[in-house]
Amino acid sequence: MTAATTAPVRDEDDDRAPESGDPFDQDRLPTPPGATGTLLRSLLAPMRGRVAVTALLLLLQQAAVQAGPLLVAYAIDRAVPAFRGDDNGPLTAVAVGYLLCAVAAGALQYAFVTASARVSQDVLLDLRGRIFRHAQELSVDFHERYTSGRLISRSTTDVESLRELLEEGLQELVMVILSAVYISVLLLWLDLGLGAVAVASFVPLYLLVRSYRRRAARVYRKRSTAIAAVIVKFVETMNGIRPVRAFRREAANDADFAVLNRRHERTNGDALLEMARYVVGSRVTANTTVALIVLWGAYRVADGSLELGVLAAAVLYLRRLYDPIDRLGMFLNSYQSAAASLEKIAGLLAQTPSVPEPASPRELPERRSGLPGREVVFDDVRFAYRTGGEVLPRFDLTLPAGQTVAVVGSTGAGKSTLAKLLARFYDPTDGRVLLDGVDLRDLPGRGLRREVVMVTQEAFLFSGTVAENIALGRPDATRAEIEQAAKEIGAHDFIAALPDGYDTDVRKRGGRISAGQRQLVSFARALLADPAVLILDEATSSLDVPGERAVQRAMATVLKGRTAVVIAHRLSTVEIADRVLVMERGRIVEDGSPSELIDRTGRFADLHRAWRDSLA
Ligand SMILES: Nc1ncnc2c1ncn2[C@@H]1O[C@H](COP(=O)(O)OP(=O)(O)O)[C@@H](O)[C@H]1O
Ligand SMILES: [Mg+2]
Repeated sequence: MTAATTAPVRDEDDDRAPESGDPFDQDRLPTPPGATGTLLRSLLAPMRGRVAVTALLLLLQQAAVQAGPLLVAYAIDRAVPAFRGDDNGPLTAVAVGYLLCAVAAGALQYAFVTASARVSQDVLLDLRGRIFRHAQELSVDFHERYTSGRLISRSTTDVESLRELLEEGLQELVMVILSAVYISVLLLWLDLGLGAVAVASFVPLYLLVRSYRRRAARVYRKRSTAIAAVIVKFVETMNGIRPVRAFRREAANDADFAVLNRRHERTNGDALLEMARYVVGSRVTANTTVALIVLWGAYRVADGSLELGVLAAAVLYLRRLYDPIDRLGMFLNSYQSAAASLEKIAGLLAQTPSVPEPASPRELPERRSGLPGREVVFDDVRFAYRTGGEVLPRFDLTLPAGQTVAVVGSTGAGKSTLAKLLARFYDPTDGRVLLDGVDLRDLPGRGLRREVVMVTQEAFLFSGTVAENIALGRPDATRAEIEQAAKEIGAHDFIAALPDGYDTDVRKRGGRISAGQRQLVSFARALLADPAVLILDEATSSLDVPGERAVQRAMATVLKGRTAVVIAHRLSTVEIADRVLVMERGRIVEDGSPSELIDRTGRFADLHRAWRDSLA
């Protein structure tokens, strides 16, 4: 997330620059070859039958529509002469036939549009669900690389462009192509010469469409990058609105945003320009062809080698053929951007979690009675993030079940990394993390989440009531159990004082609940979840000092009966630990009980002395 907020915004159009040079593209997920096709097939597979019915409806509808000019030709060349000869049968037949075709075409079109709308709505529903579920299941390290703004862009802009194609473009595109085939065949059958001229006009039109598609593809890719950049900037600024205000970043953000907004505007302009070029080209081609056919046809009617009705039908067909060609450009646009969107979505969906579920999961042995908690072992662990050097070089650590361990050390020492490995947000690069002898990689995700709970400084509250937020740790908890947990933590009084007590909505990110209170709520949540291993990563940092004694009590309550890792920011919390680890650069440099370490002459003794002096 930080990468994009601090990345410089560049304002030049860089056709030649590699894509990775774009600050918003640097973490582009390469879509594996074939992933887009696989996605499309898997979306359509469940509705194969309905797709077939839809296609059949379209074939019939086009047959009914294209019968019209043929009937006109028949009327002019046969029925009208017959009518002059006092036989009104053929003309009546033509009129009735024309009417029937028109009614049938209308009814079939209605059926087709309805059927295809149902198919596309189901496809979109499925796709939105898949994006959400998949993104939620991807590992933490994915979300650290792929910003939430980009995820939002996938599930809004990209799904939206697919929706546009499916709802507006695709049906028309298929209709246009299908009618072009029908009309070509009919024209060739009516008159080989005229048909050949019409078919020949497809060559320049095809070249025009091809060059337009190529140019539009480039413009559209740029445009979708530009739109994504605008969204990313917007979401990140608003997510970070407090620091934005605190550091008076508004003006700088305005300037950055203006640049992105302009870039978006310019790409839009480019897209429209390409469109205009295409429309002009296609109209000139179409009108030239019609003029040629009328001219040549008139000569041939004059010398008797062509019937008038056939010429009339040919001109009617040509109009039908060329009319939608302007719009074809538009459909191709939405097709183009939808294809690009689908590709990006496929890239996202093709991501596999870097912390995969075990192929053959193992169950943990029953939690031992008498000895609460579980034993934690870091066995020869090494760890490096995707970027940067090794954070934990060869790390060995055994935490006996039920022990409370405080971890201290300077910022960047690797304390949070240790916690994240234990909660399996990441897997070690090398070595194993064991819970009661079982590798975390062999535990099913659900089971692991029950066993290991991490409370962090953020103390995130989800939208919903306070009670729901506490119950998150154990969804089947009763109200009495929820209140009991809050009481034990010392959160009951402030919750009871909220407007609706436990039913108070914490929306707006707990805006009405202070950071310290949020931490108490997340303590109550952890207590209710009753995990075997609890990790507190600077989880008391927002609790105010006057509440110190209450904090100590809350800590003692929540830590009792489990293995606990307390990453402590303040040394007062260390005193309740059985054991203290001092970490530096990914290594444990001191290890002992608090009193032992205070008596020694190490880092911890220094820290402790400094802290005591600061209290005096
Ligand atoms: N997601 C990440 N990607 C790359 N490097 C990271 C990431 N998180 C932390 N680091 C690096 O790992 C080292 C240890 O960080 P961390 O475990 O958060 O330290 P602590 O919690 O002790 O302050 C630091 O050098 C930090 O820059
Ligand atoms: Mg940390």
